[in-house]
Parts: sequence; structure tokens; C-alpha cells
Amino acid sequence: MMVFPLIVLCILAIPLSVFFTNALDTLSPSQTLTDNGQTLVSVGEHFELGFFSPWNSGNRYVGIWFKQVPLQTPIWVANRNNPITDSSGVLEITPTGNILITKSNQTNPIWYSNSSSPSATTSTVQLLDTGNLVVKSGNSWNYLWQSFDDPCDTLVPGMKLGWNLEAKKEWYMTSWKSLGDPAPGDYTYRLDPRGLPQVVLRQGSTVVYRSGPWDGVRFGGGPPLKENTVFSPIFVFNESYVYYSFQNIDDGIISRFVVNQSGQLDHMTWNPRLGEWNSIVALRGDTCDGYNLCGSYGLCNTNKQPICNCPDGFEPRQPLDWKRLTWTGGCVRTTEPNCSTPQGFMKVSGLKLPDTSNFLVNSGMSKVDCEAACLRNCSCMGYAKTDISGCVVWFGELLDIRMYNEGGQDLYIRMAASELGSKKKKPTAVIASVSVISGILVLGLISWFVIRKRIVQGRGAQRLGDATNQGQQNNGEENLELPLFDLATISTATNNFSIDNKIGEGGFGPVYRGQLSTGREIAVKRLSKTSGQGLKEFKNEVILISKLQHRNLVRLLGCCIHEEERMLVYEYMPNKSLDFLIFNQTRGTSLNWDKRFDIIVGIARGLLYLHRDSRLRIIHRDLKASNILLDGELNPKISDFGLARTFGGDQPEENTNRVIGTYGYMSPEYAIDGLFSVKSDVFSFGVLVLEIVSGKKNRGFYHPDHDLNLLGHAWKLWNEGKPMKLVDASMETPVPTLEVLRCIQMALLCVQQRPEDRPGMPSVLLMLDSENPTLLQPKQPGFYSERFMGDTDSSSTGRNPFTSNEVTITTLHGR
Ligand SMILES: *[C@@H]1O[C@H](CO)[C@@H](O)[C@H](O)[C@H]1NC(C)=O
Ligand SMILES: *[C@@H]1O[C@H](CO)[C@@H](O)[C@H](O)[C@H]1NC(C)=O
Ligand SMILES: *[C@@H]1O[C@H](CO)[C@@H](O)[C@H](O)[C@H]1NC(C)=O
Ligand SMILES: *[C@@H]1O[C@H](CO)[C@@H](O)[C@H](O)[C@H]1NC(C)=O
Ligand SMILES: *[C@@H]1O[C@H](CO)[C@@H](O)[C@H](O)[C@H]1NC(C)=O
Ligand SMILES: *[C@@H]1O[C@H](CO)[C@@H](O)[C@H](O)[C@H]1NC(C)=O
Repeated sequence: MMVFPLIVLCILAIPLSVFFTNALDTLSPSQTLTDNGQTLVSVGEHFELGFFSPWNSGNRYVGIWFKQVPLQTPIWVANRNNPITDSSGVLEITPTGNILITKSNQTNPIWYSNSSSPSATTSTVQLLDTGNLVVKSGNSWNYLWQSFDDPCDTLVPGMKLGWNLEAKKEWYMTSWKSLGDPAPGDYTYRLDPRGLPQVVLRQGSTVVYRSGPWDGVRFGGGPPLKENTVFSPIFVFNESYVYYSFQNIDDGIISRFVVNQSGQLDHMTWNPRLGEWNSIVALRGDTCDGYNLCGSYGLCNTNKQPICNCPDGFEPRQPLDWKRLTWTGGCVRTTEPNCSTPQGFMKVSGLKLPDTSNFLVNSGMSKVDCEAACLRNCSCMGYAKTDISGCVVWFGELLDIRMYNEGGQDLYIRMAASELGSKKKKPTAVIASVSVISGILVLGLISWFVIRKRIVQGRGAQRLGDATNQGQQNNGEENLELPLFDLATISTATNNFSIDNKIGEGGFGPVYRGQLSTGREIAVKRLSKTSGQGLKEFKNEVILISKLQHRNLVRLLGCCIHEEERMLVYEYMPNKSLDFLIFNQTRGTSLNWDKRFDIIVGIARGLLYLHRDSRLRIIHRDLKASNILLDGELNPKISDFGLARTFGGDQPEENTNRVIGTYGYMSPEYAIDGLFSVKSDVFSFGVLVLEIVSGKKNRGFYHPDHDLNLLGHAWKLWNEGKPMKLVDASMETPVPTLEVLRCIQMALLCVQQRPEDRPGMPSVLLMLDSENPTLLQPKQPGFYSERFMGDTDSSSTGRNPFTSNEVTITTLHGR
């Protein structure tokens, strides 16, 4: 009895319109959608569009929600700013291709889509199975308009958060005002495309959270999401687009990413069994996600008590506040870096990188150049090398840094070099340990890592660090890994050690130039087979050497071990060695005084690092002009360091059965008694400086008036009050007399007979750096007569030029 009137009523209600009960997904210009239960349902029944009222509200909105989720969950709302207070709403598509919502019988639109261009042909509106509401003209794939371009508070698969850079169009999320009001609320979640792309949550205009930059897997480099079987993130960053998006791992999954009205960021998945949304990733999950909680340079770490800490070499700006757990003042350096003093970088690992309010990005830049770029500008306070953006350098204070216990990225913070030397471990070092080492060392590591990654793909590649560190207590020290190149790689790179590729013959074997398949140029030192060193010792030695990294040291990239063959792979230096330049009349002219002075200072810095700042305290033992290589900008780099024996800081003395060194550079106590110390290196350095100033070799120096070598000659001129006569005549004149005199005097101090009279490298640098230092009067140099010494010019390695095979080697600590 009741059935008939009902059907009649239904038919009457939609007399002219489409028969919606059949779940259509498309609306044509002749059709309307009214607020009486009519909806559009996407073809796979995943989404539904229609009029709805939010929780606890009588207002009517047009929205899209999940068809299969019984709990009403709108992903998009059209008229979020303009609710309809009754059920008179009508949705239609205009002939020009605009979606229009009006109250019936009224012409004022409640809402309309601003379709890009009026369409010539008939347009339709369709709800796609992705949840995207689109306006199509004909069958064209170019939508005139789509709801995915206008996100509200929710992302579903296929939606984007970010920028169409070409069209300067942004997709961003805004929270609802409240559970019952979809109007834009306080929170916006937007991708900041400048510098390192990162997503920033603002409450009004205040930043309350930032994701940290995308690291290729996730934002902020945080810990990996455990067994994410729900969705896979997508990040696109090219010239046209930078955006975040995601897809569900399989079709049965329903998930959404939402910023809720209290600014909570959740990725949720629908659990049909429990009938509720479960949050699988909650951003802003812990205290450390609070923006800049620990102030500038403060490291936030939820695993520590208190959670804010200053990095090594830093102290709280306001110690009292800090004690009261108010950290906003942040940290300041114990020693502010001063551009006129040596600078370096401290590596801090496992971080969400600092905020990029003032930064520079250079995507093409290598790590070395990145560091150099930062060093060049006094206001650069740190840099990072990321896969996505390349080189990023920060100016001004570094804000909002947090530490993760796993994952995270590496940041290099600028420090005074003096701070870097004195490493003090934090008492409660966690997995993400702060390692205080020279930034250059760290840089080297990255390049090794890159190379290693490439090499590891090849056959037979192993990690040297693994092999030698096995069983050793590593105590959270940085675990150095040196790439092991296989012989085939090196052979190919050096054209099978072709004679054309040979660029020198050093004390330890020939050196070849080569080019890796990646285009990188290398120098390969093929060690003499007679070295007599065991494999284990060799590896240990190489790892020790590899730890020495400084801008004035040639960088070791890796090594190659094949049966008896041992090779060291270094970066290639295009400008050959110093002897090639200074001892040549024509080429010497290209080296003006300023350049020579820079070279002297550079060598001194490198040597200081070896003697004092490196944790190993290396005595070079074979410092000479041919061991100073020059890079493209004629910066000096010491090579062959550490090939003599290396010294651990706590080993008081070492015995060796070899004397290594070169006549003309060897100090008397070393050449005669086999006693070497940092002061024997200082002697060689003094010789080198005199050679650089004069353009003459110490050994083989000839003067018509006397039998003295260069040292003796310089000493004689000094005593006669004519030291400027020493200066290389091929140099452009005039030279700054005072500076030259200072160098000569310093060099003469370095080559004094008695080691204890010679200055240490720190004093040498002081003499070089300060304008008016008071220098002592030099005493008589050692070995000032050429005839005193033997007459070969080669390094002696593995054989003893003296009678005894037992040479006692003693270290005299220079400080
Ligand atoms: C719209 O107008 C028609 C006739 O002009 C009227 O029958 C109908 O009730 C009106 N609807 C509303 C919601 O006012
Ligand atoms: C459509 O464009 C006009 C003018 O550009 C703007 O005022 C209006 O807010 C836009 N409407 C929507 C729904 O975006
Ligand atoms: C940028 O990435 C998008 C998505 O992967 C791709 O469609 C587009 O062609 C890319 N553009 C450029 C210039 O690489
Ligand atoms: C926002 O999300 C958080 C976490 O899911 C929840 O605890 C909170 O109640 C939500 N706020 C509102 C207003 O829904
Ligand atoms: C930096 O060091 C130089 C020389 O060591 C000194 O003259 C100068 O005052 C220092 N500058 C600052 C800002 O400390
Ligand atoms: C250092 O960088 C800042 C910020 O980009 C810039 O304003 C300044 O001019 C730079 N200084 C030098 C010496 O290049």
C-alpha cells in the first residue's frame, strides 16, 4: 500500500533531472545536483560528492568524501567560506565550463570554480575515482579546472603539496577552523621552495614546525618509518615542479594526510575492522619538533636530559636561563671564528638540518667547492651537502636544529681552527655522536663515500674500514672507510700505467695520472714493491693517513691492493709541484711575491695541522719542494705525508730501521743521529722557505765567492746586512721588503743548528700572520756548507745511507 506513493514521490522529485540513484559520476550542463540526497559517485565507488553538514552543524556544504568510510570524512569542500544555511543549494555546470553553486531561485553564486578559460565546446563535470572533481571539455585530458588544484586540509593519493614553478601555482593545505566549520583555520602547511625544499607549518604567520629538507626518502632525514605498508611518499624536484605527494601501497588501502584544526599533522589510514582512522605517521610528534625550541645552534635531542644542548665548542648564551630550562637564547661559540685566523668545520651528524632563512644553494657544486665557498664568506656559518639540493651554505645563526637517534643528515659548522683541535667528548655521547674533526677531513670522507658507492657496485670491492676495524673497539669514533679500488679500475684509469701517464717518481715509487670513468682525475702512487710491509700494517697505515685531511694536504681518495701491488690514490693536482715552478727561471716569474707568501703560509698551516692539530701528530720527515703540489689556484698541498711512520699521540717513541728524507732538507740531528722530531720538519720547512724566496735549490747551490749552500749563503747575507740580495731576481719588483725580511728571518730561525732553538710551527704561523712580530736573532744554521753532505738528490727509502741499520728514532714533543 505504501510502496506506490513513495515511488511516485521519488519520480516527481526528479522529474527533469538525471536518475541519480544509478550513481552517476558526471554532470552535463543540462543537469543539476540538488541538496536532497543526490550525489555523484566515482566509477569505482571510492569517492562521493554531494551536500553535507559537518559534525554538530546545520550548515550545508558541497564536499567530497570517501564512499567506503562510514564515518563521514570530507577530503575537499567547495564553499568552505560560504555555507548554505538551508537545503536549497544547487550545483550545476555552466555552458562556459564553470561549476556553480547557488541557492535555487537566486542568481548570486554561493561558490563557483574559476575554470581557466571559457570552453568553446560543451563541458561536463566529473568525479574521478581518485577523488578529483574535474571540469572537462569534450574528451580532452586538459582539465579546465580540478579540485586537486585547490586542496583544503587533506591530501589523498594524487594530490600535491608544493609548487608548479613554471605556472607559479601553489598547492598548500589549510586546516579547518573547527570540527564543525570547514572555513580556513589558523594553520597552513606549505612547501617552501627556496633553498632546501621543506614544508613549513604556520599558525597565522608564526612558524610552528618545519619538516626539514627532503633527503630523498623522507623530510628532515628523520628515522625511517618502520614497515610502512600503507603509503609510499613521492617527492618531485625539478625545474618545473617541486612537490610532495604519495601513493597507497595497494588499492585496498584508504589513507589520507591531514592537518587538523589544532595543527596536528597526521597520515592516517582507515581501519575497517575497528571502524576508525588510525594515525600511522604523526609529525610534530615530540617536543623537539617545536620550532627553534633550543634557540640558535642549540641541538634538540629527546633522548637527553635536558633536551637542549650546545654542540662542542659552544656554550649557552644565557647560562642562567639555560639552567632554568629556558633555551630560546640558544648557544654561542666559545671562540668566535675570526676570518683572519684559521677556520675549519665541525661535523655534526644525525640532524634535521637548520632552517634556511638565509642561505645559498648551488646545486652543481662539489663538496670541496661547497666548503671553500663557505670559508670565503665570513658570514657563512655552516654548510651541508645534500643529494637533492647540492651545496647549501647558511649565513647567520643556524636555527631549529634537532638530533635524531637514527637517520638524519650531516651539517658542517664553521669553527675557529683552534677549537677543532681540542676535541672533548661529550659525556653522554649517543649514537648520533658529534665528531669534532677538521671539516676537510669530513669533506674527504663524503667524497670517498661517493666514490665508494660507485666502486662498491663493481666486483671485488670491499670496505677497507670494515676489514681493519673488525674486533676493534670503536667507541663511537667516526668509522672511517677508505674505498678500495680494484686493479682493473686503476689500470683503466691510468691507461695501463702507460709511460705517458707517468707524472713523477717520488720517494716511494712512481706516480701516474689517471681518470676514473666518472671523469674525476686522480694521481696514483704505485708503491715500490720492496717496502716489506705486511698487508695489515699497510692497511692500518693507509687508514691513519686517510684521517689526515686539511686544505693544505693532498687528499687521499683510496687505495688499491692487489697481491704484492700497493697503490695510493690521491686527488690530482693540475699545477704539478713547487720545484717545477720556483726553480725555473721562466716559470718562476709567474709566481709573484704575494703568491709565494700564500704558498709559504699554506705549507706552514698544513705542517701545523700535521704536528699539532691532527690527532695523530705526524712528522713528515720528507718535506721538500717536490712534495708540495699545487692545485688549480696554486694553493699548496703537502703530499707524501704519513708515508714515514705515523705516531699515535701516546706513543713516546718508535723504532724504525729506515731513514727517510732528502739531502738538502734533512736536519743535522736527523741525518747524523737519526733523531727526528717535529723540529726536523721545521728545519726542512726553513729550507723550503729560503728556496721559495730565492728561487734556488739548497742542494746544488753554487756561488762563485764561497762554498756555502743556500743556508750558508742566506746566513752570510743576513750577517752582512744584505738579506734582500737573496730574493729571486725573476720576481716582479718591488716586493714588500718588510714581509720578505720577516720570512727570511723566520726561515733562518727554522734552520738553526740546535732543534731546541728552532720555533715550533705554531710560532712560525704567528710570525707569518702578525704584522710586527718581534723575532729573535737567528743563530748559526745547521748544514750550511754543501760539501758537508752526500751528493745524491733522491729520497732514500728503505735503505740506510749510513753505516748502522739501527737508527734510534726519538720524538721530541714540540709543546
Ligand atoms: C523556486 O521558485 C519556484 C517557482 O518560481 C517555486 O515553486 C519554488 O518553491 C522556489 N524554491 C525555493 C527553494 O524557493
Ligand atoms: C575566482 O576569481 C575571482 C577573481 O579572480 C576571485 O575573486 C574569486 O575568489 C575566485 N573564486 C574562487 C572560487 O576561487
Ligand atoms: C619534472 O617532474 C615531473 C614529474 O615527475 C615530470 O612530469 C616533468 O616532466 C619533469 N620536468 C622536467 C623539466 O624535468
Ligand atoms: C588533531 O589531531 C590530534 C592527533 O591526531 C588529536 O589528538 C586532536 O584531538 C585533533 N584535534 C582536533 C581538534 O580534532
Ligand atoms: C681577528 O684577528 C685579528 C688578528 O688576529 C685581530 O686583529 C682582530 O681584532 C680580530 N677580529 C675580531 C673581530 O676578533
Ligand atoms: C657573504 O654572503 C652574504 C649573504 O649572501 C652577502 O650579503 C655578502 O656580501 C657576502 N660577503 C662576501 C664578502 O662575499
